[in-house]
Amino acid sequence: MTGPHTELLAHDPVAAIRWKDDGLELLDQRVLPARESWLRLESATDTAAAIRDMVVRGAPAIGVTAAYGAVLAVREAVKNDPVGWREVLGPLLQVLRVARPTAINLGWSLDRMERRLQTVEHEPVAAALAEAIEIHEQDKFRNRRIGLNGAPVIEHGSTIVTHCNTGSLATGGFGTAMSVIRAAWEDGRVASIYVDETRPWLQGSRLTAWELSRCNVPARLIVDGAAASVMREARRGWAIVGADRIAANGDVANKIGTYALAVQARFHGFGFMVAAPTSTVDLGTAQGSAIPIEQRDGAELTAGQAWQLPPGIGTHNPVFDVTPAQLIDCIVTEQGVHRPPFAVSLAEACESAAASAE
Ligand code: MRU
Repeated sequence: MTGPHTELLAHDPVAAIRWKDDGLELLDQRVLPARESWLRLESATDTAAAIRDMVVRGAPAIGVTAAYGAVLAVREAVKNDPVGWREVLGPLLQVLRVARPTAINLGWSLDRMERRLQTVEHEPVAAALAEAIEIHEQDKFRNRRIGLNGAPVIEHGSTIVTHCNTGSLATGGFGTAMSVIRAAWEDGRVASIYVDETRPWLQGSRLTAWELSRCNVPARLIVDGAAASVMREARRGWAIVGADRIAANGDVANKIGTYALAVQARFHGFGFMVAAPTSTVDLGTAQGSAIPIEQRDGAELTAGQAWQLPPGIGTHNPVFDVTPAQLIDCIVTEQGVHRPPFAVSLAEACESAAASAE
């Protein structure tokens, strides 16, 4: 990577996924920032459970984890049946595939692992591991590019509001929206950064605040409901978020609350930027209404509280929402900055990504 921004994002102080001593290790995000505890996984089933239980979360991180989970699946399948391992493998990969429904990176990564395994003749475990490592390294490279592509869009003196966690914890490394924020900060473009706490799982207050602090980037934590007032006072800036799945028309599924942030940004004259690798673009899904939205246990809404819900009060806990394309000013991928009409610009981005992979 060359050019005036070469030193930006040169170092990543946070890592959440590692392959070590022939096993997969994940930094347990359920207990951050109180404890930095690594969990070791030896099977695909355990990996699927870790994704489902949010030991690891964030669309690209789920994709990278699933790739290593597929390596564990191949190892298990070969051990059970050295000749007919492909038949044993299918159901194990399926367990990984359905671990969480919204982030397309999970299926994207497993499709890629399956394509590689279709052609392998010898040493399938080694081939699978090489592919998983490539997926991981490629994600880091793409995320750095996202930061370098997105930062110049941010005008000097901008106030930034971000939602959820989109940093190294949520990806193979460097982050998506976080990569743009870091690069823009390091480039002197940012006046202040506000981090939505991101109810109910608190990805913002527990994870983004911790990561920004690790990167020596100062920020202020706000409750989700404060974002509109912050924008009104700041007058100019950008809301910058990641994505779990981007439909062909540019509709974006991301953490619940993203849609509200986009409405508020448009009302207050803030720009709205979505940052994601092309592996998050799902050209097979025409529009946002077709994206499956994960519903999680309503207990998440009252977790850690000293009180309980009174009788007769239920919960509704969709953990993602869809922001319509018309509220989005630009989508930044490793291929560049894409503007409306997204049906055209995203198709071109995916085409160049495919061409550069050949
Ligand atoms: O439920 P989570 O924590 O997996 O949701 C994560 C998000 O919504 C992120 O914003 C998204 O995956 C982009 S992360 C680079």
